[in-house]
Amino acid sequence: MTQAPITPPCIPEIELAGQGGSHPEALIRLDGTNSTLLLIRRREGLPEIAYWGRRLPQEISEAEIFAVRAPDSPNNGPDQWRPLITLLDTIGCWNFDMPGLIAARPDGSGWTANFETEQVAREGQRLVVRGKDTVSGLALVLNLELGPDDVLTSQARLSNTGTQTLRVERLVSGTYLLPESVDTAHVLSGEWGNEFGIEPMNLTRGGIVVESRRNRTHDHFPGMLLSPANTAENEGEAWAVQLGWSGGHRLCVERMEDGRVRLSCGEYLYSGEGDLAPGAELVTPVAYAAYSSAGFSGCARAFQAHARRHVLHWQGGKMKPRPVLLNSWEGSGFDLHEDQLMRQVDAAAALGIERFVLDDGWFGARRDCDAGLGDWFSAASVFPNGLRPLADRIHGHGMEFGLWYEPEMVNPDSDLYRAHPDWVLQTRGYPLWTSRNQLVLDISRPEVSDYLFEAISEQVASVRIDYIKWDFNRDLVEASDAQGRAAYRRQVLALYALWERLHKAHPELEIESCASGGGRADWGALAHTQRVWTSDDTDALERLAIQGAAWHFLPPEVTGCHISEVPNGITGRTTTLDFRACVAIFGHLGLELDPTHLSAEESTRLKAWIALHKRLRGLLHHGQAQFCAADPARVVRGVVSDDARSGVFLVAQRDWVSARRPSPIRLSGLDPAKTYRITLPEPQNLPAGYRPSEAQKAVFSGKVPVSGATLMDVGIFPPFMPPLSAMVMELQAV
Ligand code: DGJ
Repeated sequence: MTQAPITPPCIPEIELAGQGGSHPEALIRLDGTNSTLLLIRRREGLPEIAYWGRRLPQEISEAEIFAVRAPDSPNNGPDQWRPLITLLDTIGCWNFDMPGLIAARPDGSGWTANFETEQVAREGQRLVVRGKDTVSGLALVLNLELGPDDVLTSQARLSNTGTQTLRVERLVSGTYLLPESVDTAHVLSGEWGNEFGIEPMNLTRGGIVVESRRNRTHDHFPGMLLSPANTAENEGEAWAVQLGWSGGHRLCVERMEDGRVRLSCGEYLYSGEGDLAPGAELVTPVAYAAYSSAGFSGCARAFQAHARRHVLHWQGGKMKPRPVLLNSWEGSGFDLHEDQLMRQVDAAAALGIERFVLDDGWFGARRDCDAGLGDWFSAASVFPNGLRPLADRIHGHGMEFGLWYEPEMVNPDSDLYRAHPDWVLQTRGYPLWTSRNQLVLDISRPEVSDYLFEAISEQVASVRIDYIKWDFNRDLVEASDAQGRAAYRRQVLALYALWERLHKAHPELEIESCASGGGRADWGALAHTQRVWTSDDTDALERLAIQGAAWHFLPPEVTGCHISEVPNGITGRTTTLDFRACVAIFGHLGLELDPTHLSAEESTRLKAWIALHKRLRGLLHHGQAQFCAADPARVVRGVVSDDARSGVFLVAQRDWVSARRPSPIRLSGLDPAKTYRITLPEPQNLPAGYRPSEAQKAVFSGKVPVSGATLMDVGIFPPFMPPLSAMVMELQAV
């Protein structure tokens, strides 16, 4: 039998730099105030990332960048030219780094991708890049914008233009190129009661992948900081990224063969969640990234400014002063009695509280965490006449009424579960996992979200609820819908839709996103809510670290910071009321205690702290965040107004190291040329019983104004501060 002749595949000529497909066609430049992103569009492939970092002078020429970025042909490398790091790296195309897209057809074909750029449209500092791969049947739209706050936002949209289903396993929201000097990834790690830990990890060869796969992110907040080893809070280059998404995520940082670092971030897709029928598209969550040449604080300020301008949505279009609230959880737990709550409301009003939040335990058979979730009607045994009398008492004091819900959950011991056992997410045939005795409802089913919407909406209107604390107290596991398909992604989208539906129906309603503390404190949630709870650990010492890390990604005014009872319910630690207050007043202040249990002296002091917070919140919640201390035993941080005329700083002593012989405090963010009067506002005094010098007394009582230059560079000696003590310094330019 004669064999058919074999036709060898055609091998293209070797292309040198600047020839054929590698020929650069356009330099695309986006500028922030202090940063620049350079992309090179070539004849073939998607635009390459040439640079992202410090702002470049305007006069840098296209020819110069093309010349220095001409690709070479390394020994042992490909014989044909291929695009270098692009806006979306795929499998194939001689890319061996972590791919940003993994997809294939059900029969296994179409598993590589090789995009061509069809169009790059530009409007100001915003780009829309359209690409296609006719072989694999893919169309791509990448949206990128570099804002004046130096935050780079990106989002991808992938369409299936083929005739078979496309199975997308991974599609990243953003890809970034960092220089070879970056050698540390600061990974956000934690657990319940211990969120927002920052762990520096050395970037050698290979990569670091950080994934969270439970639809709650106690384990890993979806953000990361990156820097060279010597970057500090206020010095050196820093890059940061965060994903606006409340489901699973994947952050990947990898040192490439040439030493540079590639970073990408995107959602974590469970099997089948990225399946696209012909003509269908997958839209990623938005990724946000910041660059700063002023250390990590610069990234924090960029993120805070961006969230204030673009992510947060306020009722009536503008944030009203954040109401100081009292939350019943730590003070009362499940031990709720209407008459006692009425007394708490009166006591709270006398302290200056502006929002009273009734936490878990007010509904159905919910006398502990074993029963009742899902039955969103008030418990007759606690509220014989419903919630309205309590709401009226609260409103009568001019306060707002907040109510706790955990809408996505159901206890098996509930009327709702008995009526609709099929509404829960589960993989049929496997054991039904409970956690805190609860199951997760499939809220992507219209009948389930309608039930929740109607139950909550009716109550919001009839009881007059101003605020919802929306809790979420278990991880998703084996979360399949009724057809057995993974439902993690749809659950998040359904939640966002439900929040929006409630906001639309009740334009004044505010919502707090809580998930056993800080399990859902991301920008995806914050695009639909007005507050996040960063941790159930309200111990002020622990909160110093938790809040400090969280504020590198979130504006303080949306983070709940509460003064709670001592000994602390989680750590057992006892700290002074002043210490707890100093730490809490920098965020969205609240109390987490029973106000009827306070002594007269405690009430007076607490009232004064609340009044101080109210006086300062205009600055605390709009100013520029400052993180100052290099000393691990002491925290110095604060906020400075945009015009640098006023500032508020916290000095908190964590332990004995550096307490006996304190090093000078150096502040940041002030105007070196301005002179400031420093005061320790009421109810504080200089720590008594120690020996402050006369000069110190004069400085801290505003009698000797000090220049910004001295405060930032020379530094001032704080008075002796024992561990677990703190002071708040107010600065006013003279
Ligand atoms: C977890 C939250 O983080 C707490 O603040 C409290 O609301 C409890 N759930 C109530 O069950």
